Amino acid sequence: MKVELYLNQKKQVFDVLPGEYLLDTLRRYDILSVKRGCEQTSCGVCSVLLDSDMIPSCSVLTVRLQGRHITTVEGIEEEATKIAFYFGQEGADQCGFCNPAMALAVYSLKRKNPHATDQEIKEYLVGNLCRCTGYQSQHLAIKRYLEDPS
Ligand code: FES
Ligand code: FES
Repeated sequence: MKVELYLNQKKQVFDVLPGEYLLDTLRRYDILSVKRGCEQTSCGVCSVLLDSDMIPSCSVLTVRLQGRHITTVEGIEEEATKIAFYFGQEGADQCGFCNPAMALAVYSLKRKNPHATDQEIKEYLVGNLCRCTGYQSQHLAIKRYLEDPS
């Protein structure tokens, strides 16, 4: 089946199976920042932006997304570079497996709630699990990114 999506602002036609999840489609089309984790909507490493909302791509069938906008970290390169800078400064990087989805979530948070409180940051990121860090250094990095005026 053919499905037309806007992937990272570019219109693209994807050839998919009727029961194929967006996670599988994206990875098949070499969008490898989208990671495969639990595949049960629990870990968040597969998350992408659907229009302006974070969704786990392992939970949605690609055929249901005709004409929708999907953003992955490949589509926010400049902001992702800034986020990576603050993560590096705060020592918040370990294996990096959670980083692409975390960067997208932080990017989205800044657009929706640029003055988020500590509690709001925690609540917004609750679906993004990290196996390596204790979240504290990530939290500090996120606060610095939110305060970045550029
Ligand atoms: S792989 Fe989708 S939420 Fe874990
Ligand atoms: S840095 Fe390893 S899962 Fe987050």
